[in-house]
Amino acid sequence: MTNPLLEVKNLRTHFHTERGRVTAVDDVSFSIAPGEIVGVVGESGCGKSVTSQSIMRLFDEKRLVEYEGDILFNNESILHMPQKRMQKIRGNDMSMIFQDPISSLNPVYTVGDQIAETIRLHQKVTKKQAHQKAVEMLRLTGIPAPEKRVNEFPHQLSGGMQQRVMIAMALSCQPSLLIADEPTTALDVTIQAQILDLIRDLNKDMGMAVMFITHDLGVVSELCSKVIVMYLGEIVEITDTESLFTNPLHPYTKGLIQSIPQLDGDRKDSLPVIEGTVPSLDQVPNACRFSTRCPFADELCKQEHPVLEHDRDEKHVRCWHYKKIG
Ligand SMILES: Nc1ncnc2c1ncn2[C@@H]1O[C@H](COP(=O)(O)OP(=O)(O)O)[C@@H](O)[C@H]1O
Ligand SMILES: [Mg+2]
Repeated sequence: MTNPLLEVKNLRTHFHTERGRVTAVDDVSFSIAPGEIVGVVGESGCGKSVTSQSIMRLFDEKRLVEYEGDILFNNESILHMPQKRMQKIRGNDMSMIFQDPISSLNPVYTVGDQIAETIRLHQKVTKKQAHQKAVEMLRLTGIPAPEKRVNEFPHQLSGGMQQRVMIAMALSCQPSLLIADEPTTALDVTIQAQILDLIRDLNKDMGMAVMFITHDLGVVSELCSKVIVMYLGEIVEITDTESLFTNPLHPYTKGLIQSIPQLDGDRKDSLPVIEGTVPSLDQVPNACRFSTRCPFADELCKQEHPVLEHDRDEKHVRCWHYKKIG
């Protein structure tokens, strides 16, 4: 077994809010091997973004957030290292692309300058070479007329273009881990396909590992080898991608799979689709967290919190009855 590239161990992320302390990520453990592409799925509000931003340590640690547990990157604890050192890892060995690109771009520099600066931070190249590379990176992400776009400012670009600039920037330093948080949600399908191809190529050619957060189970099936399913701040299932579709174990995972619209338009109405919504963080059931929505929930589920059980191989599941409901 190779050493994991990233190891998240019993991570808890608490926020201090006006209504008291809430725990958005609760006892989350998983690992990503070098070159592995891991998907993270779950409805809105399940803690996917908070998990990824905790790994990057992007929250205000003085006022907002408190962490427990540990995160190892290349066997080194990054959760507790000084922010100064963390800055060197961030955007270098580990980089992230978000849903909302404009907040991460600097309005006063051209996109070319911003990409070139990232390149020059990590590679010994001249200004001219960095500029050339920036054009290439933009071309790779499918931006038309990149030699012209490279000299434009972020506000001159559409949302989709800005997202591609972000992706060019994140990939230009050739990170060993890319964290992608729904990066293509706002893009049209053609561009989305190009960006997924780009990520796949970088994964193959450079062994870049990816943590890919998405709503889109189609993307998961195309891209990922392993999948983490989150519900209300917890992991409820970890499985290989094939089993996610052929043999999901957790009732929540089954619900997600069954909610995928059938391509032939023939919706299987006999199959249960998850009803209701994810409870808010101040209403976390002191039991199985999915019990308020689960069609299989009984007294035990409504009283006791199940642990994440190691089923077999790489499979983990958090459900009292997964063996029974088959
Ligand atoms: N800065 C914050 N302060 C307080 N609560 C937050 C903050 N950011 C996120 N949360 C809460 O954490 C939970 C998980 O959010 P998030 O990780 O964004 O979900 P998602 O799975 O959709 O990415 C949500 O209930 C959200 O309201
Ligand atoms: Mg999110």
